[in-house]
Amino acid sequence: MTTVPLTVRDLHDLAVARLPRMAYDYYASGAEDEHTLAGNEAAWARVRLRPRCLVDVSARDLATTVLGRRVSMPVLVAPTAFQRMAHPDGELATARAAAAIGTVMTLSTLATTTLEDVAGAYDAERGAMGGRWFQLYVYRDRGITRSLVERAEAAGYDALALTVDAPFLGRRLRDVRNGFALPPGLSVANLVGHGKGAVDEARGDSGLAAYVAAMLDPSLTWRDVEWLRSITRLPVLVKGVVRADDARLAAAHGASAVVVSNHGGRQLDGAIATADALPEVVDAVRDALEVYVDGGVRRGGDVLRALALGARAVLVGRPVLWGLACDGAAGVASALGMLRAELDLAMALAGCASAGAVPRDLVAW
Ligand SMILES: Cc1cc2nc3c(=O)[nH]c(=O)nc-3n(C[C@H](O)[C@H](O)[C@H](O)COP(=O)(O)O)c2cc1C
Repeated sequence: MTTVPLTVRDLHDLAVARLPRMAYDYYASGAEDEHTLAGNEAAWARVRLRPRCLVDVSARDLATTVLGRRVSMPVLVAPTAFQRMAHPDGELATARAAAAIGTVMTLSTLATTTLEDVAGAYDAERGAMGGRWFQLYVYRDRGITRSLVERAEAAGYDALALTVDAPFLGRRLRDVRNGFALPPGLSVANLVGHGKGAVDEARGDSGLAAYVAAMLDPSLTWRDVEWLRSITRLPVLVKGVVRADDARLAAAHGASAVVVSNHGGRQLDGAIATADALPEVVDAVRDALEVYVDGGVRRGGDVLRALALGARAVLVGRPVLWGLACDGAAGVASALGMLRAELDLAMALAGCASAGAVPRDLVAW
């Protein structure tokens, strides 16, 4: 058996061995019984493809646009917190790899590196394609939230991804059992200036669950999407929608895109798999909004399925973390490169020459 990782799952297996238990469990876990975590991957596997034959696929075009910006492939980097637990270079490494491959990096509010430093790392490797988005959690203290938005604008981020599926943290039992806290030397770097940089151990709970309960605003409603739009000129994506009616509300409240997401199975256990939710969202808002999807995408073939079901692009969370844990920026590049190569081959074998024009009838639905 080869020790060279060939797939994202191989990177996962290597990462398990490298990561401290608390970090691995934080990255890997889902909420409660982890049904939704498992369901995301299983749902992609259930989507059956109907390949076309005798189509000229000698040249494939994987590039597409998101929010009007060109990306080299329809695979974007999802926001994931605390990347320096995986590798000392953390978010800087992810930014460099995403920029070099020409795709979007979404930086978490809960990054362990400041948004300004990540912007610099991304731009140092940036070519003609790609972009940087900032994921926003709304703090109870709206002054803090406003300041994050202003900083993201000033640092040249292209969009804000408002996460709407986390009024509280889902109960992730592995984190509770491990007494999750940020390791010494790491902080919620963007919030240090506001005195909210520490994620400490919480008695009988995950330190992050306690942080979220204390700091983030669980009273958010659609009105706050308008508030956010009123304080920024950046496009706002709503991340964490799994229903047609919510997608329509996102459009009605001025969002530019929705991300069909259940937070990688980390919030409401039992929530519908994203592959299953995607078609109704696409049918509802296809003409009004761009629709992206994340959760359980582990293969280029999963990306092709998502495109066929109407997503403009997918985001990947854990695959990036496994690559990062294995080898920093090179590992992230490797994870993204594997997905790219698999998508390229899947497109060829399915008779699709362009990632921007994958027909719905490619899947049996
Ligand atoms: C370790 C970890 C941390 C995450 N942190 C955030 C976050 O800070 N903000 C956010 O909006 N989503 C966060 N997510 C959710 C991801 O953005 C994304 O929705 C999810 O990971 C996609 O599923 P996948 O990991 O199966 O690709 C996190 C996910 C993981 C696994």
